[in-house]
Amino acid sequence: MSAYDRPALDPKNLRPRTQLVHGGSARSGFGETSEALFLTQGFVYNSAEQAAGRFTGEDEGFQYSRFGNPTVAMFEERMALLEGAEAARATATGMAAVTTALMGQVKAGDHVVASRALFGSCLYIVQDLLPRFGVESTLVDGHDLAQWKAALRPNTKTAFLESPTNPNLSVLDISGIAEIVHSVGATLVVDNVFATPMMQKPLELGADCVVYSATKHIDGQGRCLGGVVLGSKAFIDTHIQVYIRQTGPSLSPFNAWVLLKGLETLPLRIAQQQDSAAKLADFLASEPKISRVFYPGRADHPQAELARRQMKGGSTMIALEVKGGQAEAFRFSNALEVIKISNNLGDAKSLITHPSTTTHQRLTEEARLAVGVTQGMLRLSVGLEDADDLIDDLKRGLAAV
Ligand SMILES: Cc1ncc(COP(=O)(O)O)c(C=O)c1O
Repeated sequence: MSAYDRPALDPKNLRPRTQLVHGGSARSGFGETSEALFLTQGFVYNSAEQAAGRFTGEDEGFQYSRFGNPTVAMFEERMALLEGAEAARATATGMAAVTTALMGQVKAGDHVVASRALFGSCLYIVQDLLPRFGVESTLVDGHDLAQWKAALRPNTKTAFLESPTNPNLSVLDISGIAEIVHSVGATLVVDNVFATPMMQKPLELGADCVVYSATKHIDGQGRCLGGVVLGSKAFIDTHIQVYIRQTGPSLSPFNAWVLLKGLETLPLRIAQQQDSAAKLADFLASEPKISRVFYPGRADHPQAELARRQMKGGSTMIALEVKGGQAEAFRFSNALEVIKISNNLGDAKSLITHPSTTTHQRLTEEARLAVGVTQGMLRLSVGLEDADDLIDDLKRGLAAV
């Protein structure tokens, strides 16, 4: 203790934007301004007794970076503050977060229900991976509450959905589904990637667990992969902590540091990207070569009223259908100069992808159509460029169709 020491700031008393800059910061003795990067695998102890105490939990502190690291812990704490969650655990990728959130809860003989409209790899976990370990799964039309109800069994352990969905931005009723799922004592896990933590708070809507691919908006600058699982302390302690500790889908401290820096600018980036996305959606909707635009912030979105109730904004993502199917969608994409063709999303750079030949290629045409992925559909992730340059670019695309 020094005479100059000051009590630590309690981030719980700060507003969200301030939490995203200061929350979770744990300064070392050097008093660094930017969060320290603890690129270390392990930690040394003052004595064998202290080492023993760390392993029993009597002595607080880090043991090994697979299950705890100061830089990763700063990211986890900042994410928990942002989400309004009691606890968070970071993972190496978004898929590691999804796999951990589901596998961490189930055992052979259990049952899982999920909305059919899932990101391809999430669908693989539910449809292919879980059944290999004796966990049966049922896929439902996520909009139909009666299907959720009918799918539940006494052994249903957990339910899983994403909203808005990838790629066509369909909005599911999170609180309605949470109520149904809770009626049999199951939990609800929500993949909140498309909404971002700035626009939707699934825990407040009744979900038990939220997962993110931090690769997307949280980094937001196309640099590194990451993921995070959030929930109550009891949920994380029971289902997530041990699973991560023993199986090792852990986040690198370096990536945690990049993601901490990403969180500092998240509200500014999301506000700007969402503002541009709304403009681009309106522009596209007025174009005769585009048959449909799916944007949760527009009045013509199929679940516009639910989106207004559940989300704070219209999304940074747009789905659009180019008339003429795949050939015209390809012509449109190939004529773009500012907007890049990439299957990633949430980046500072605007990115466009043709889901039926990329992210949803593994599905049969019938399965794709069941979740609204048509041959003419494109998914546009709106970045930080000037919206007028993006509209000029879309005009180039339209001219080629
Ligand atoms: C909705 C959704 N969930 C999960 C993931 C997986 O994230 P990651 O690529 O970080 O593993 C993605 C990635 O595209 C996604 O779009």
